[in-house]
Amino acid sequence: MFFSAGICTLFLSAAANAQYQMVKEYIGDNFFDNWNFYNNIDDLTHGDVFYAGFQLASQAKLAFVNDAGNAIMKVDNSSTVTFGNKRNSIRIVSQDQYTVGSLWIVDMLHVPYGCSVWPAWWTSATDWPSGGEIDIFEGVNQMTMNQMSLHTAPGCVHSNTSLQTSTLINSTDCSATANDNSGCTTTDPSLASYGAGFAADGGGMFVTEFATDGISIWFFNRSSIPDSLQGNASTVDTSKLGTPVANWASEGCDITEFFDPQQLIFDITLCGDYAGNTAVFQETCTGVCYDDFVVGPDPSIYDNAYFEVKSVRAYGLPGELTVISSSGAHRSAEIGGMFTLLACAIIGYVFAL
Ligand SMILES: *[C@@H]1O[C@H](CO)[C@@H](O)[C@H](O)[C@H]1NC(C)=O
Ligand SMILES: *[C@@H]1O[C@H](CO)[C@@H](O)[C@H](O)[C@H]1NC(C)=O
Ligand SMILES: *[C@@H]1O[C@H](CO)[C@@H](O)[C@H](O)[C@H]1NC(C)=O
Ligand SMILES: *[C@@H]1O[C@H](CO)[C@@H](O)[C@H](O)[C@H]1NC(C)=O
Ligand SMILES: *[C@@H]1O[C@H](CO)[C@@H](O)[C@H](O)[C@H]1NC(C)=O
Repeated sequence: MFFSAGICTLFLSAAANAQYQMVKEYIGDNFFDNWNFYNNIDDLTHGDVFYAGFQLASQAKLAFVNDAGNAIMKVDNSSTVTFGNKRNSIRIVSQDQYTVGSLWIVDMLHVPYGCSVWPAWWTSATDWPSGGEIDIFEGVNQMTMNQMSLHTAPGCVHSNTSLQTSTLINSTDCSATANDNSGCTTTDPSLASYGAGFAADGGGMFVTEFATDGISIWFFNRSSIPDSLQGNASTVDTSKLGTPVANWASEGCDITEFFDPQQLIFDITLCGDYAGNTAVFQETCTGVCYDDFVVGPDPSIYDNAYFEVKSVRAYGLPGELTVISSSGAHRSAEIGGMFTLLACAIIGYVFAL
């Protein structure tokens, strides 16, 4: 009895350390099923867009599934917008929330880029900044590298940067009240992590681990995606993925203290607080962000302002609560948990014999 209980504990804790099980998949014709479309102007980052509601997004083909079965989310690149008005774009938020102990993988072929364009793939708690924000993929204008950040309440810092491959540390205080809310930011040195370089390489995968011992982001360009993540990976072992490009360890930031369950978000805004900041804009573009681009005479400047997403997959730890659905129901990686318990029971039984 004692012996089998020991094995069982070992087995369960080993499984809980790194082995994530798929809990939810956003893919193909059903990709857009479980998201809320913002249906308002960008009142969050003051960009010059109107984030379409579901109907407008579908009618104007700003959000749709293409012939290849991939989700497209884009800025309107067919209309001329008159001065004083906003250009249509997309912001979608997952209806489900994911707890600490989740992993999210996005596989993308193309990300939005170009002067005035500011896209992000990120997560946020409903209470901001107290519940935390994780920016997995973000860039502005004609930048060539992805930047990753956390935004939190005061007290969370990027203290140990030896657990990530990137040495491009822009800032280490994650507090939304520090450094004009620029967050604690790390830049990916890979020129395939953003913009034209990302598209030319066939895109890639961003893997985000939201764990009690830290938050980690891996970026794999198309040709370096590990075999274990190819196809429909129903389980993911993060200990096999190598060192992440960015890592915020719990030593400097108690994840369970600074982060509540997160919703997944895609958005593309134009200009606004960051891309439209004159100094930032002039680093990679010339002219005036709103006047020369958003309401400029040629909407085809936005031909590259789109996401093409093959899939988003969410994972959780076996037996643990991972998903809080909008209806209030809770879901965990139950199947995996049940298998683990069953295997455990069998092992226990064999040892008891
Ligand atoms: C950072 O993490 C590494 C690896 O876990 C560890 O050896 C090192 O002591 C840590 N540094 C600090 C300052 O905590
Ligand atoms: C972060 O640092 C990198 C490398 O120095 C730089 O290229 C990038 O522009 C910086 N990002 C920000 C937001 O300052
Ligand atoms: C893709 O990633 C691999 C492994 O990090 C690297 O050797 C290769 O140069 C990258 N390709 C591009 C286009 O950046
Ligand atoms: C991927 O696997 C999950 C179970 O692991 C399954 O529910 C889902 O339908 C699969 N998706 C595809 C596209 O095959
Ligand atoms: C808009 O952008 C898409 C994607 O790049 C492109 O296929 C299309 O031809 C562009 N122009 C219009 C008018 O939609």
